[in-house]
Amino acid sequence: MIIQPRVRGFICLTSHPEGTAQNIQNQIEYVKSKGKIANGPKKVLVIGASTGFGLASRISAAFGSDAATIGVFFEKPAAPGKPGTAGWYNSAAFENEAQAAGLYAKSINGDAFSDEVKAKTIELIKQDLGQVDLVVYSLASPRRTHPKTGVAHASVLKPIGVPFTDKTVDFHSGVVSDITINPIENEEDIANTVAVMGGEDWKFWIEELKAAGVLADGVKTVAYSYIGPELTYPIYRNGTIGRAKDDLEGTVPALNELLNDINGISYVSVNKALVTQSSSAIPVVPLYISLLYKVMKEKGIHEGTIEQMQRLFAERLYTADGQVALDEKGRIRVDDWEMRADVQEEVAKLWLQATTENLEEISDIKGYRDEFFHLFGFNFPEVNYDADSNEVVNVPSIT
Ligand code: NAI
Ligand code: NA
Repeated sequence: MIIQPRVRGFICLTSHPEGTAQNIQNQIEYVKSKGKIANGPKKVLVIGASTGFGLASRISAAFGSDAATIGVFFEKPAAPGKPGTAGWYNSAAFENEAQAAGLYAKSINGDAFSDEVKAKTIELIKQDLGQVDLVVYSLASPRRTHPKTGVAHASVLKPIGVPFTDKTVDFHSGVVSDITINPIENEEDIANTVAVMGGEDWKFWIEELKAAGVLADGVKTVAYSYIGPELTYPIYRNGTIGRAKDDLEGTVPALNELLNDINGISYVSVNKALVTQSSSAIPVVPLYISLLYKVMKEKGIHEGTIEQMQRLFAERLYTADGQVALDEKGRIRVDDWEMRADVQEEVAKLWLQATTENLEEISDIKGYRDEFFHLFGFNFPEVNYDADSNEVVNVPSIT
């Protein structure tokens, strides 16, 4: 069938199999171009492996370090006449490439928050890998059914305390307007957001993996966080999602205690703001990202998810001398280039100037749009979008 983009706000309802495969191919080529990661991981579990940072982590581990990988994600499989989600096609393409390169790759498609998927993952590790030496935790979800209480928590993206008014952009039309986001009205919104995006599920995973004996001596685990500039603090770091990130970062000491007797260690890596399915849903952030991209590209320091994760693996998690550079709060920082003073000063200046009329000129809104479409396999020059697509991609390694 012929598959074209069908966009509704910040989501695209369709994904292109050959285009997503091109996206995977490009990411693999990038990782290979950087050479092998010395002392890299060998057996890796990635939770949230189908898109964004988790997918890029999986590609970095597999093609940068010859790692066997197990991916966990929640995606819709392809069926005749009914294309699957981008994450499904990404994973299918990744597994085909990995297997062609002689690398073990299998995935579990299901709810990572559930006890059932954790048990299934443990069984698969036992059966095929014995143990894993790296666990990447990269879930981004609007909801979580708690496995112990059965309560369905929904996260919210809101300020805490006072209403927040600032600029935002509709990245499809390029219209810049003011948006006011009202603060939460009850504290439960914070608790719910923490329940979905905080550290509890990461801890459940590590506890269960450890109890099952499937974590190798010296295991590492890493989860991803964000800080960003002051201008997004009200909606991000000081808002409900920021409370969840505080909670995620606050889980590190407990995990380190848990992993101590097997010489394991846990990290939170603070990553750069990037176009992903999750970040495009946050008001104000797309305008910030389009200005940030402009400034970072001009300075020659722009990175996408794959550049970020390859650098995280090669220059932070797995260094030649085994030292992992951390900030004063114990976090890995690969948002270091985003947060450089010269970058932030220029973005802040452009932020004040940005209007519908000058946006194409002063920002990289074009690059934003392009990357948004790339997430779903569209806008790749190598792909003919008028041709028939093979929407059914059969991958027995995904169960
Ligand atoms: P994403 O939306 O691209 O990826 C989310 C992944 O989680 C997908 O693989 C999806 O299938 C999986 N997932 C969601 N719900 C699931 C469930 N119930 N069961 C199993 N899998 C499920 O998101 P992105 O942006 O890569 O985010 C990953 C992490 O990185 C998040 O913690 C996010 O806060 C963080 N981060 C994101 C930044 C950004 O600008 N995008 C910046 C810094 C950190
Ligand atoms: Na991810």
